[in-house]
Amino acid sequence: MVTVIRLTEKWPNPYDSREYHLLDGLMDPLRFDRDFTFFFGRTPDDVMREAEVWLWIEEGKTPWETAAIAYGHIQITDPIHKAHVARLGVCVHPAHRQNGWGTQVVGRLIQEAQAMGLKKLVATVFADNKAMLHIYHDKFGFEIEGHYRREECWDGEYRDVLSLAKFLDTRPEPVNVMVTSTPMPNYGVRTYGG
Ligand SMILES: CC(C)(COP(=O)(O)OP(=O)(O)OC[C@H]1O[C@@H](n2cnc3c(N)ncnc32)[C@H](O)[C@@H]1OP(=O)(O)O)[C@@H](O)C(=O)NCCC(=O)NCCS
Repeated sequence: MVTVIRLTEKWPNPYDSREYHLLDGLMDPLRFDRDFTFFFGRTPDDVMREAEVWLWIEEGKTPWETAAIAYGHIQITDPIHKAHVARLGVCVHPAHRQNGWGTQVVGRLIQEAQAMGLKKLVATVFADNKAMLHIYHDKFGFEIEGHYRREECWDGEYRDVLSLAKFLDTRPEPVNVMVTSTPMPNYGVRTYGG
């Protein structure tokens, strides 16, 4: 049987909880995953401090047979000007991939984000991470907002990153473009070579 647990509900003292250790167990094979860099060089404490965390736990008959199989997080990076925006993070234990867990995690995170009143969800994904892009873009309608070329360097290899977003409210987009029929004044800025 698989249960979903929100770890941050265990605050302020999650460290002796079983879920904390299950998160540690999930992180173990993923700490050096080139696609899920959120765990890179971090401890479960860091992860839980930075984000709201959900774990998919496969309950075994004994504690030793119980393990976390998937993980999702919602991270608000700027509570002042971007309190309406959250970054999502998803990973599935390597032994459990291609079984629909990644899709289930993203669906659940969207539901949770809606319940939290968030308006915009953002995810950054390596451009060669086809499975994750398929889930965000094709299954859940995230749109590509940015393509950052040679954004990261891993083992001497430059990798492109895509930034995807999904808006959770249906209000019209704010219009930030000033439409004018006359040329904009340049406020004394000198231009060269023109
Ligand atoms: C990306 C990840 C979360 C997907 O988890 P998962 O449990 O395997 O996902 P699902 O089984 O729900 O779905 C995978 C989908 O991708 C598709 N897919 C897999 N490899 C693919 C590829 N190379 N090209 C295109 N589609 C691919 C599968 O066919 C499936 O789609 P379908 O349901 O339409 O058949 C998992 O591979 C993972 O944890 N990777 C490492 C961490 C990571 O990359 N996190 C995201 C970084 S932001």
